[in-house]
Amino acid sequence: MLDWYDQNKREMPWRDCGNPYKIWVSEIMLQQTRVDQATPYFNRFMNRFPTVQDLAKADQQEVLKVWEGLGYYSRARHLHAAAKLVVDEFDGNVPDNWDDITELKGVGPYTASAVLSIAYQKKHAVVDGNVIRVLSRYLGIEDNVRSTSTKNTIQDAADELISEKRPGDFNQAVMELGATICTPSNPTCEECPIQANCVAYKTAKTEEIPYKSSA
Ligand code: ADE
Repeated sequence: MLDWYDQNKREMPWRDCGNPYKIWVSEIMLQQTRVDQATPYFNRFMNRFPTVQDLAKADQQEVLKVWEGLGYYSRARHLHAAAKLVVDEFDGNVPDNWDDITELKGVGPYTASAVLSIAYQKKHAVVDGNVIRVLSRYLGIEDNVRSTSTKNTIQDAADELISEKRPGDFNQAVMELGATICTPSNPTCEECPIQANCVAYKTAKTEEIPYKSSA
């Protein structure tokens, strides 16, 4: 997986930057927006608010203005409020631990895991839609992926599989695989680095898994 990622990862302006603020902003944008849509917004945002201090002292109208077009504007309001908290309570440093980072508005388990792993190499596995698809196929999980218990199973599996040495790259590799190869329909399994051990591939069930009940 990591070798594949090293050779195939897409360039993204926040990738490999090591800047927790940029990584945090990117993960907020990527919650409901695809990488190619989010990228120009990210660049504009960083031009206008290069540091968390710049964001904290901006007024809300201006933050919303830069966000305009991205949608889900509560993300921008929460990010702005959270930037003030980072400056006031955490000395301008994006928290590097679970308890503090989840105090920030808009930072739930997905964003906390993404930022802690990518920015701080902490071993927290992310589970988003891409990860659910990759792991349910890889492990041959045929249960309804919309149920909480299936999601918990997938979270546990991700926690087991995550790399000790490169947790952030592992998380990004799984997301990248889901975005580029292990796509919802017609996945390109011939190019997949984990094809050999993928249960869905071996049993020709990539179109049935992940199973989503309509209820
Ligand atoms: N989707 C959300 N965060 C991502 C990341 N860091 N890399 C690739 N896809 C993502």
